[in-house]
Amino acid sequence: MNSFVYDIPTKVYFGEDQLKFLGEELSKYGKKVLLTYGGGTIKKTGLYDKVVAEVKKAGLELFELSGIEPNPRVASVNAGADICKKEKIDVLLAVGGGSVIDCTKFIGAAAFTDGDAWDILTEKTIVEKCLPIIDILTLSATGSEMDSGGVISNPETKDKIGMMYPVMQPKVSFLDPTNTYTVSKYQTACGAADMLNHILEVYFNMNQDLFMLDTVMEGLMRTILKYAPIALEKPDDYEARANLMWTSSWAINGFVNGGKRQAWSCHPMEHEISAIYDITHGLGLAILTPRWLTYCLDETRVAKYYQFGVNVFGIDASLQPMEVAKKSIELTSDFLFKTLGLQSTLSELGIDSSNFEHMAKKSVAGGLAYAFKPLDESDVVNIFTMCL
Ligand code: NZQ
Ligand code: ZN
Repeated sequence: MNSFVYDIPTKVYFGEDQLKFLGEELSKYGKKVLLTYGGGTIKKTGLYDKVVAEVKKAGLELFELSGIEPNPRVASVNAGADICKKEKIDVLLAVGGGSVIDCTKFIGAAAFTDGDAWDILTEKTIVEKCLPIIDILTLSATGSEMDSGGVISNPETKDKIGMMYPVMQPKVSFLDPTNTYTVSKYQTACGAADMLNHILEVYFNMNQDLFMLDTVMEGLMRTILKYAPIALEKPDDYEARANLMWTSSWAINGFVNGGKRQAWSCHPMEHEISAIYDITHGLGLAILTPRWLTYCLDETRVAKYYQFGVNVFGIDASLQPMEVAKKSIELTSDFLFKTLGLQSTLSELGIDSSNFEHMAKKSVAGGLAYAFKPLDESDVVNIFTMCL
């Protein structure tokens, strides 16, 4: 077992009626607040008015950056960093899903650097400082509310790059499940697929590690299987939304990793799909996940699938391990495509094989040689092809 460091320094206000603490938390970091948000959902839901009222009540000065895109663009990072520099912003307040929070993390970093924020993503500029970030999460999916990573797209170069810096970790996250009642069925499904894949990326690992962490991950996965269908059926079911929200945070906040060192597999591949075709991240992962599981299955890895099948799906433990493994992949597909209702192929999204080799080359650069099953470019092309 490898040694590891556990450090999750985000303070969480979970539940309804916590927004009254927003002013107090923002005030700890200064007077000038930059509120960042997406395409206007928070205005429609009324959250914007509530947030502005709290900020004003605390006597703080408010600036705004709206229009942050899903799969956020580097142009939005630059726009936000310009406001921070010009107005001498003290603290950032991100209100939205993963895209808004990710973009805000890089705004906070770019506020301390010169030139194009894209230089941070290409590692020409190294991040040393970041403005403090407080967020109000409105979509359960990415875990950005409790991790130090973010993913930014550059439509000109057709790149989508993820990066982690501890200084970008949110200081405070407000997790109110009622803020996710308005999330569409489609985004709810994509969010569930995303958080499920975050756990699978760690769970399917050849490193021997803490049994305790495996059982936590199995519990988190069972939570998604149980509550995502309920949230789809009844969007304002508090228990369902609360369970999904807390699961999204814990799936990727570093806790379940322990000492597992293997690289992630589906994420580098998915980022190349959304870099070119601008699809929803969770949908790309849903399409990839069962194909990746199928491609990696062999006698050396079957024990992990057996554990997954028995402990997560309740498959009969007396069956042969290979039979359990295949059944577990089938049940994963059924969950993603039948229960969540997500599209199951790239072809349905109008994606053909023309960019597969280019995408595979870039995916492999994401560390796939060190994954659960080491993958080279031809493996990745094979997996993409299985997704057609
Ligand atoms: O733009 P607005 O108006 O806010 O609408 C959004 C957007 O259209 C809408 N939405 C958000 N909250 C809502 C809502 N609609 C109704 N009611 C609400 N309460 O949902 C749409 C999608 O939002 P987005 O933020 O793009 O979704 P998500 O949270 O899934 O974020 C996806 C981005 O995060 C990255 C992905 O690659 C993608 O760019 N990721 C970030 C990670 C991280 N920071 O650790 C890890 C992930 O693996 C992922 O790569
Ligand atoms: Zn993800």
